[in-house]
Amino acid sequence: MATVFLSVLPKFHPSLNVVSLVGIGTRNIQTKITIHSCQSKIKKKISTTKQGIRSKHYSSHERIFKALDDFICKFIILSTSLSPHVDPKHELSGNFYPVEELPPTACQVVEGSLPSTLEGGAYIQNGPNPQFIPRGPYHIADGDGMLHSIKFSGGDKAIFCSRFVKTHKYVMERDLGYPFFPNPIAYFISNRLRFIFLTVARGIIGGKINPLTTGIGTANTSLFEFAGHLFAMIESDLPYEIKICPDGDILTIGRHDFHSSSDGDLFSHMTAHPKVDADTGEAFAFRNNVIPPFLTFFRIDPNGRKQKDVHILSIKGVTSYIHDFAVTKRFAVFPDAQLVMDPLGIMRGKKIIRVDPEKTPRLGIIPRYATDDSEMYWTDVPGLNMMHVINAWEDDDDATCNKIVMVVTNILPVENLLERRNSTHLSLEKITIDIKTKEVVRCIVSTQSIDFGAINPKYAGKKNRFNLYKNILLYS
Ligand SMILES: [Fe+2]
Repeated sequence: MATVFLSVLPKFHPSLNVVSLVGIGTRNIQTKITIHSCQSKIKKKISTTKQGIRSKHYSSHERIFKALDDFICKFIILSTSLSPHVDPKHELSGNFYPVEELPPTACQVVEGSLPSTLEGGAYIQNGPNPQFIPRGPYHIADGDGMLHSIKFSGGDKAIFCSRFVKTHKYVMERDLGYPFFPNPIAYFISNRLRFIFLTVARGIIGGKINPLTTGIGTANTSLFEFAGHLFAMIESDLPYEIKICPDGDILTIGRHDFHSSSDGDLFSHMTAHPKVDADTGEAFAFRNNVIPPFLTFFRIDPNGRKQKDVHILSIKGVTSYIHDFAVTKRFAVFPDAQLVMDPLGIMRGKKIIRVDPEKTPRLGIIPRYATDDSEMYWTDVPGLNMMHVINAWEDDDDATCNKIVMVVTNILPVENLLERRNSTHLSLEKITIDIKTKEVVRCIVSTQSIDFGAINPKYAGKKNRFNLYKNILLYS
């Protein structure tokens, strides 16, 4: 089955009458397909009122809690104007306006033809799409995960479908009829942490949340195909397994812990960007915490069973926000950048998520089969604030195989990422690390701002070629 993923943004939307896919065939890079996206059958969120609340009958205690929510939203949160970077009117404008689900719908190929290599496969996109119009701060990455899929079958058939990932958060809010949870990124970056604590406490007391078993993530960041299963991911929660049905519909099977209950580790979330070694069938992943151990590395065996945690204890003080990492045949490489998470910083008048300009970014290299962090070392790389890793490998041009090569995006300037996102440049860089000397050489691959590169998954961790074609990064 050929599966092509595109993560995050922009999403398919009713304002787009057609969807054009370029280069989705694994070999046929020049292929262009244009498909009518059935505009007339996609409707905006007309079922929500101006406040984003569906009419519903509540029990007496639900009415009290809802009244409390309404009071907090109206008189506390919205009593001051919101900055554009957390204002839903700004963040959900244009192509980012929420859309409803769309059941499996046949599409018409109006230009080009469907490559035979895609027969039986699907093109799937994940991205944030709030179930309800937010009543308070909202960041563009806060919405509920929605999957948009085009399933290819019969040589000339394309079935389009949009479905929310049925996370615990989604189902709970759907049943309540209003948005219960504060949008975490918006509340974190605008220092409204107390409302998150208040909501979580309320959810725990009311039996709606068990942080150890339910999770409150949105599964809106990426897709991960592993050991015959497909998962929707976000780094604040465990994956949700999903399935593309024969008729093109998208089914949420449930939250998945890779059978971790037997290993004794507390496992409540993981990166949205795990790496799979196609040769061994293993996956490598990590999780980032705001309390020690700040970083934990782990492996999932080819049968889908999580292995014991490896705690990275050499990160001390305040944790870095680590979104992605690199894996080669022998090593894993972690960034330790200037974007930090410090919940206690609020007591010192600092932001919970902020940039630390005094900190020197560094890269940490650890053997990928390490059982502890004793062999890990760090090397300073001033100016490197990595966002995504497109691929990494050990350079076999060098007979000693002493070099790790990574192709990554670098946030420039990192100070703009949180509040002036539109003024951020994602620089595509080739990073070479000499394993012996720890010397790092950086080379800018593109002067254009570019992110979300993807490769043929068979080449993950192996050397691959890449070129730029009309601002699209092409790998082979
Ligand atoms: Fe990402």
